Amino acid sequence: MLFLRQASICEVFGSISDDVCALLAWVQRYGYMTAFELIRAFAHDATVAIVVTDPMIEPPGPTILYANVGFGRLVGRELDDIVGLSPRFMQGNETRRETLETFHRALAAGERFHGYLTNYRGDGTKYRVEIDCRPLRAADGRIENFVSFEREVIRRLGRPAGSAAGRYETIGVSNDALTGALSALGVFKHT
Ligand SMILES: Cc1cc2nc3c(=O)[nH]c(=O)nc-3n(C[C@H](O)[C@H](O)[C@H](O)COP(=O)(O)O)c2cc1C
Repeated sequence: MLFLRQASICEVFGSISDDVCALLAWVQRYGYMTAFELIRAFAHDATVAIVVTDPMIEPPGPTILYANVGFGRLVGRELDDIVGLSPRFMQGNETRRETLETFHRALAAGERFHGYLTNYRGDGTKYRVEIDCRPLRAADGRIENFVSFEREVIRRLGRPAGSAAGRYETIGVSNDALTGALSALGVFKHT
């Protein structure tokens, strides 16, 4: 009798990286996954910048546990240098303290933060970033992680529009494989 071996996930999805393969193989073997694992697996090749932290919001936290390639590109640093840092490493003179306080209050309340900040790249150049940060909760409601979707924006030329959404436009064209999923989740959507 001929037995067909069950193809491993890595054979099926030949193009995904070794890290993601190892993660998916583990999930395949044990049959369950956390939201964090799911994000790591799907975020890897996304164009949008995605970063996951632990839930400790007071300094020295939150600590970055995972950042995708798009995040490394946005902040102009190697991923190995980012993991273990607090996202505060991107802040500088022109990062508005008031907005950071709003950010902090949202995190402390376990709510979404959607806003715009000035941040700085590894080489010191500044950029304007749109941030959509949300808590990831366990089944019992405890916050296990925070995840943030981030993208560079620029101020629109001409007359400033009334709302933040009208004031900024996104840089570059997104052909992200996650575009449908992100819009279904309302990521970057103004409420
Ligand atoms: C997942 C996540 C991503 C974040 N990304 C950024 C970021 O890109 N830029 C930034 O200035 N702050 C970012 N922050 C916010 C800072 O970590 C910090 O919470 C903020 O400075 C407010 O807290 P503080 O008043 O203690 O500094 C992020 C926070 C989390 C949880």
